[in-house]
Amino acid sequence: MARLLLSIIVVSGLCAVSSAAVRQYHVVNELKNMTEAQQHCRENYMDLATIRDLQDLETLNATLSSSKMAASVSRVWIGLHMDSWKWSLTNSSFYKPGEMEFRGWSLGQPNNYVGEEFCAAMYNDGTWLDYGCSDNFRPICFDVKGPNETFVFISTYMNWTEAQSYCREHHTDLAIVRNLEENLKVQKLIPTVEFVWIGLFRDGWKWSDGSDSSFRNWKSNEPVGFSEDCVSADFSAGGRWEILKCDVMSAFICYRDVEPVAMRVVKVRLQKSSSSVDLNDPVVMEGLLKQLKQKLKDQGHDDDIKLSWKKQADGKVFHKEEKKSRKKGRDEL
Ligand SMILES: *[C@@H]1O[C@H](CO)[C@@H](O)[C@H](O)[C@H]1NC(C)=O
Ligand SMILES: *[C@@H]1O[C@H](CO)[C@@H](O)[C@H](O)[C@H]1NC(C)=O
Ligand SMILES: *[C@@H]1O[C@H](CO)[C@@H](O)[C@H](O)[C@H]1NC(C)=O
Repeated sequence: MARLLLSIIVVSGLCAVSSAAVRQYHVVNELKNMTEAQQHCRENYMDLATIRDLQDLETLNATLSSSKMAASVSRVWIGLHMDSWKWSLTNSSFYKPGEMEFRGWSLGQPNNYVGEEFCAAMYNDGTWLDYGCSDNFRPICFDVKGPNETFVFISTYMNWTEAQSYCREHHTDLAIVRNLEENLKVQKLIPTVEFVWIGLFRDGWKWSDGSDSSFRNWKSNEPVGFSEDCVSADFSAGGRWEILKCDVMSAFICYRDVEPVAMRVVKVRLQKSSSSVDLNDPVVMEGLLKQLKQKLKDQGHDDDIKLSWKKQADGKVFHKEEKKSRKKGRDEL
């Protein structure tokens, strides 16, 4: 190994230290339904993948394209799913076992037909449909009298949110329908060819980790007209998102945020003791790193510091410095 004189020039403008946590995605190549995938991610990483912005999306897509997936697998679970339906009145002592889960959906409903149908209405045949919460219907409120509800038809048109506020202010709440008998009671109050608001709704799309990112990367035509409630990235379609039944067995992506490692780019000028030494020879470069590391250690730097050479645009690390214009040809570490 040739003896080399090292002179290190630190150029302050080249120091790049990032302090934000770095999001890492991990593709898990095992087939699981969404719930199992979520559990696996929570046990081994942070959670199923949450994508906050375009930068996350790029990281995710890079992770997908660099991971070795079976050819038959083109979809992976991400951490987005549709909130489940729930009643406006949450007091559980109001419901007998099974009554909280009572549903009277019309055939093929709920279907999220226009994409944002998160509130439930009853038609005057007694069946339920999902509608956009901003639609205007007349609500049915209820009052509690002992164990029974008394339903009240309100003759003013309003959106679901207003209906809930109105019923909570003037009665107990929007109509809660716990069984067929109550369904019939509500139905009897509905004018011909009309829908009324009842107290069933859902919050829309939710991230598994509870974050509220509104970033979306849907395929065209998604996510409307579905009854499936979970979301996968289809990397045969550029990683765009689509709805998938939550019980489909699929590979999945987890995430974890890691503290960044401080990184510094330092230019190094080397003076060769012999003109026969090729600085771009990998063996020589490796030897130089060892020398540098020893030097840093001697100066009291941390032992787990990692050094590597940074290649220039032309693929070479070192460039011969012109005598007259030193700035041009500085070698970089
Ligand atoms: C819940 O409902 C029960 C029975 O309907 C009632 O006695 C109780 O006061 C309610 N609790 C709350 C917090 O509203
Ligand atoms: C319902 O109407 C009120 C008042 O116009 C409005 O503030 C609210 O955003 C509406 N809610 C929905 C879900 O459209
Ligand atoms: C509650 O409803 C049931 C069935 O309709 C009825 O038999 C009972 O008398 C009602 N109770 C009260 C307090 O209204």
